[in-house]
Amino acid sequence: MASFGALRTPRKIIFGKGQRGALGGAAKSLGARAFVCTDSRMTTDRDFVAMMDDLNNNGVSVQVYDRTIAEIPLTCVADCVASAAPFGPDLVIGIGGGSCMDLAKAVAVMLAHGGNIRDYYGEFQVPGPVLPLILVPTTSGTGSEVTPVAVLSDPDKLMKVGIASPHIISHTAICDPELTYSCPASLTAIAGADALTHAIEAFTAIRRPATPQLTNERVFIGKNALSDHHALIAIERISRSLARACSPGHDEEARDDMMLGALSAGLAFGTAGTAAAHAIQYPIGAFTHTPHGTGVALLMPYVMDFNRSACVSEFAQIAMAMGSPRAAMTDEQLSGEAIRRVAALFAEVCVPSTLAELGVPADKLDWIAEQSFTIQRLVNNNPKALDVGSLSTIVKAAFAGILIGEAA
Ligand SMILES: NC(=O)c1ccc[n+]([C@@H]2O[C@H](COP(=O)([O-])OP(=O)(O)OC[C@H]3O[C@@H](n4cnc5c(N)ncnc54)[C@H](O)[C@@H]3O)[C@@H](O)[C@H]2O)c1
Ligand SMILES: [Fe+2]
Repeated sequence: MASFGALRTPRKIIFGKGQRGALGGAAKSLGARAFVCTDSRMTTDRDFVAMMDDLNNNGVSVQVYDRTIAEIPLTCVADCVASAAPFGPDLVIGIGGGSCMDLAKAVAVMLAHGGNIRDYYGEFQVPGPVLPLILVPTTSGTGSEVTPVAVLSDPDKLMKVGIASPHIISHTAICDPELTYSCPASLTAIAGADALTHAIEAFTAIRRPATPQLTNERVFIGKNALSDHHALIAIERISRSLARACSPGHDEEARDDMMLGALSAGLAFGTAGTAAAHAIQYPIGAFTHTPHGTGVALLMPYVMDFNRSACVSEFAQIAMAMGSPRAAMTDEQLSGEAIRRVAALFAEVCVPSTLAELGVPADKLDWIAEQSFTIQRLVNNNPKALDVGSLSTIVKAAFAGILIGEAA
């Protein structure tokens, strides 16, 4: 089969210990006034203060917004825009976890285009370029520093909403693993599990016919040769280092792997997209308020189980990227091994293994299947066709903890 590949990426991606020191110079090249979105935890952080000094030393004047609320309620977007507009920034910088970076994206949209943030929900709704963004993650998880998505919570909507547009990809992503050293084990586990799930879902996403219009018609285009490359790097790095990064003691190599892995997973899913595990997590998150990473990771082995017959070769590659030796194993055996390894890794970092453990009642399972079916952009990205019935099969298996692949 002829190869097809596509990637949408920031103009500059910088990765490495100490690279946060690149912020001042990078900002200076984009303008003289920078609006910074962060949260209250960061403002007292020594590294954050040093980054603000670096901006000032580069002649960039700064206004800091430190009231980012995790999961970003719309009131937070409005408050942040009201604070940013009178300052008239040339660029927006997001420093923090996915929430701070996604807020920076939303504010960059509003400052460029005005209107109501709801105008931009969905795919390709942002009408043109936004203020240049520099994004600096402090968790190894969402990959938001390189993706075309911002996720918000709208009180009028049952489930979270997304703005998905190539225009909100950052200009520059600066990924410095040292900024994650302060993450407690639980945050490292949840964020890292989200990142591994991004990589697996991107690597096993549907492969669409490579028409010349594909990248113009869809933000998330499905599996392709370029996203695969990044997905496999992410699977390898995260699987070898997630448990170590969550263990007591300080493992710099593991932190390094986690951040490179989360960044690579972001590059993979930012173009390929995610699928069923992310779709099903939407209603589960709305109902249980479980952290996003916990929900998608819990679901991943059950989704893999369902998808297995359509992805034997991909799962075999995943197993090998996670350390399974190729010798003496068929692809079929390796594909079962991939499911076992993913489930075991998530169990090792204390991700619950059933929806029952999350407190989902049995009489909500059909509702979860119906609601997840409405997230069509993700449902359509699954390698095996999904309807409410098949989603219900996955949800029921995840409720009861039934993994067929485990027994194979
Ligand atoms: N845009 C995307 O591509 C994308 C992808 C996946 C998820 N998301 C969204 O991102 C959000 C989750 O992001 P997240 O998991 O990075 O967490 P977060 O940004 O919501 O932060 C969670 C908590 O961790 C704290 N924190 C962040 N960095 C820390 C550090 N270095 N040390 C100690 N504490 C730290 C924050 O202060 C906050 O209290 C959700 O809203 C999710 O929907 C976005
Ligand atoms: Fe995710």
